Amino acid sequence: MATLKEKLIAPVAEEEAAVPNNKITVVGVGQVGMACAISILGKSLADELALVDVLEDKLKGEMMDLQHGSLFLQTPDCIIIVVSNPVDILTYVTWKLSGLPKHRVIGSGCNLDSARFRYLMAEKLGIHPSSCHGWILGEHGDSSVAVWSGVNVAGVSLQELNPEMGTDNDSENWKEVHKMVVESAYEVIKLKGYTNWAIGLSVADLIESMLKNLSRIHPVSTMVKGMYGIENEVFLSLPCILNAQGLTSVINQKLKDDEVAQLKKNADTLWDIQKDLKDL
Ligand SMILES: *[C@@H]1O[C@H](CO)[C@@H](O)[C@H](O)[C@H]1NC(C)=O
Ligand SMILES: *[C@@H]1O[C@H](CO)[C@@H](O)[C@H](O)[C@H]1NC(C)=O
Repeated sequence: MATLKEKLIAPVAEEEAAVPNNKITVVGVGQVGMACAISILGKSLADELALVDVLEDKLKGEMMDLQHGSLFLQTPDCIIIVVSNPVDILTYVTWKLSGLPKHRVIGSGCNLDSARFRYLMAEKLGIHPSSCHGWILGEHGDSSVAVWSGVNVAGVSLQELNPEMGTDNDSENWKEVHKMVVESAYEVIKLKGYTNWAIGLSVADLIESMLKNLSRIHPVSTMVKGMYGIENEVFLSLPCILNAQGLTSVINQKLKDDEVAQLKKNADTLWDIQKDLKDL
């Protein structure tokens, strides 16, 4: 008989005695890299912060940069958080190139999407974002999956109060909240040229969970082969436990059929691109 804990948590890594190591390396000193660096410094998370500059360009450029950055990839026992877009694909590429176990290569994924969702939900309800619970999962960006079945305040399921939530028939148009999550990055880019502060703060939040060994749960990109019927090696965001070892477990959320279907579609889209990547 599986215990409640065994049903809830799917282990990704074996338990190991990790040695705390507070050196943080930020690769790339563009707007996002520097926002990460400033946010990390502001939270006093690192006793040593290294900055490494790489060229910011498209997927190919990013891949070449990662290979050129092999000096960094040799750092033993490190945990890599990939923030560059397309983040789910680049996390896969980094995992392959680094040779690190999957629990030590993490994509920032839908961590910021979920934070934006909770902020917008908070605006709509007049409740602080920390008390508004909702998860954006799957592929970071336009095709992300809003898990309407899990949206709640103080354990009260909002979909039970409004069964149309997230559908086109919803008179309160909650679907628009997810649409705004997807569009908000484009809006900020239109207004100021790039996004950086929110992603920097959200990355510092992930690092805090690991350096302080908090075992908090974040929607970040992890290798999902074998979960929800996904058959290929792709990285998608699911609720993951982050602590000193890295990403140790995935939480088994009870998703509805249409939510699982959307995740599988994300996985197929990513694999279509990844399967043509050579030399990995
Ligand atoms: C992290 O916390 C867990 C308990 O939650 C403990 O077993 C482990 O030894 C801790 N690791 C470090 C590096 O402090
Ligand atoms: C929307 O409402 C129509 C008419 O009531 C119904 O046929 C349809 O199944 C509903 N769609 C959704 C997504 O609930």
